[in-house]
Amino acid sequence: MDTEVQTRAAAPAAPQTDPPWWRHAVIYQVYVRSFADGNGDGTGDLAGVRARLPYLKALGVDAIWFNPWYPSPLADGGYDVADYRDIHAPFGTLAEAEALVQEALGLGIRTIIDIVPNHVSDQHPWFQAALAAGPGSPERERFWFHPGRGEDGSEMPTHWVSSFQGSTWTRTVNPDGSPGEWYLHLFTPEQPDLNWNHPDVRREHEDILRFWFDRGVAGVRIDSAALPVKDPALPELPTAPAPGAHPHLDRDELHDIYRGWRAVADEYDGTRILVGEVWLEDAERFARYLRPDEMHTAFNFDFMSQPWSAELMRRSIARTLAEHAPVGAPATWVLSNHDVTRPVTRYGREDSGFAFDRKRFGVPTDLAVGTRRARAAALLVAALPGTMYVYQGDELGLPEVELPREVIEDPMHFRSGGVDPGRDGCRVPLPWAGAAAPFGFGAGGSWLPQPADWSAYTVAAEEADPDSMLSLYRDALAFRRQSADLRSGALAWLDVGPDALGFRRGDRLASITNLGSEPISLPPHRGVVLCSAPLEEGALPPDTTVWLDL
Ligand code: NOJ
Repeated sequence: MDTEVQTRAAAPAAPQTDPPWWRHAVIYQVYVRSFADGNGDGTGDLAGVRARLPYLKALGVDAIWFNPWYPSPLADGGYDVADYRDIHAPFGTLAEAEALVQEALGLGIRTIIDIVPNHVSDQHPWFQAALAAGPGSPERERFWFHPGRGEDGSEMPTHWVSSFQGSTWTRTVNPDGSPGEWYLHLFTPEQPDLNWNHPDVRREHEDILRFWFDRGVAGVRIDSAALPVKDPALPELPTAPAPGAHPHLDRDELHDIYRGWRAVADEYDGTRILVGEVWLEDAERFARYLRPDEMHTAFNFDFMSQPWSAELMRRSIARTLAEHAPVGAPATWVLSNHDVTRPVTRYGREDSGFAFDRKRFGVPTDLAVGTRRARAAALLVAALPGTMYVYQGDELGLPEVELPREVIEDPMHFRSGGVDPGRDGCRVPLPWAGAAAPFGFGAGGSWLPQPADWSAYTVAAEEADPDSMLSLYRDALAFRRQSADLRSGALAWLDVGPDALGFRRGDRLASITNLGSEPISLPPHRGVVLCSAPLEEGALPPDTTVWLDL
């Protein structure tokens, strides 16, 4: 028996029960820095998460997805990873992460970690070695170093546009102080892109997967999964690239990489999953990532981006189900995450859809309307077939916080020239209890300031209120867990009029959402299972979802 096999045999076991767990799971997203602070330094940590596992158990989740928890200078909230095999020291230690995975498993909760294949931190040893080794060195081949254009090399190699706005190339300085080569970064200059044509890069990532699967993690969320492969010819961006012909998006070579990852995941028991962050408009290209020997699921951003409209949401749901069907993968339903405006804020705005380039300061928001709609949306997505994601704090109905500019850290804010408020407004530390900041987040302060009026949003306050968002989420997830119809029943649309969205799941469960401005009457039913707001004389009022026992 070789050592690797011995290590794996001794590794903590994943639950053997329910192999297709990922097809219907409820997955809770923890942004560690802002979840709960165990040591009172104002930053969330693993001790905080461990102390709150019973909260997640009571909420009724099947798995936790952790945003990157590795050592990082936090130039992009941890998506600039300096070491994949350790934990960011302010969050805790590797031993604590191992204990957390086991404790969560003990409560029946699986762990999904975040892998960032497109880039590393500029502090990663590989990049530091590449800088030190200089032009033409093998160390530089793991990245995209390139001479500049023009006689003196002062023009960047391409005019590709960063996902964070601005250019994608930064020029290095040679040891003698003269200007050197450029390197590629689709995000910030602190996040140099890896060269996936290099065998070291591929080997290293498969090894990282094994490192964490050996520690009992149940899956990985693959960051920016459609970006890692680049056209080595580094052409300029074509105006209308044919599918697969874009120089840095959705290239066909990616599929072979993810097949390799799937093979690694399949070496392990307990169904370890790959979840892709795949932002692609082309449904057929999106579905290719979900073929049976590639990823298990991918985030459905199409639905999340829709405004509060029965017609647009219905079309998005239908499109989603249709694009997943041929590859046999379950859909995912996401109302938000650490990158997007919180639902209660979004749905309380005139422009209630989501797009990164439309984020602005000072947008008028009706939080009462937004909260009512977010409650309805929560029941709607919880009734749809597939996996459901809950971003921490959405179960409390937290609004997006408009932070003072001087506390914002997110590079999206700075790279927009201060026009885009960035993503910190949805990353404000959670309120757990009490009447004043930091509302039980920890014994110290909180790395981003919480609004002074958050006492009604604390877990303690909402646990005590049967009409709170938290109570609604708990009730919905508890019902979903034991309902065979919601777990595996087929979806059939109901005719409930143009301003409403209604469907049956299986034999007896119906979900109806009224997105119009008038109450609507309900089909015959035996009883009401759950309602996001009280019915009015038996009718479903605007901005409300009801689950019916037919
Ligand atoms: C997507 C992540 O969700 C986001 O937070 C991050 O900034 C980029 N990928 C770059 O890693």
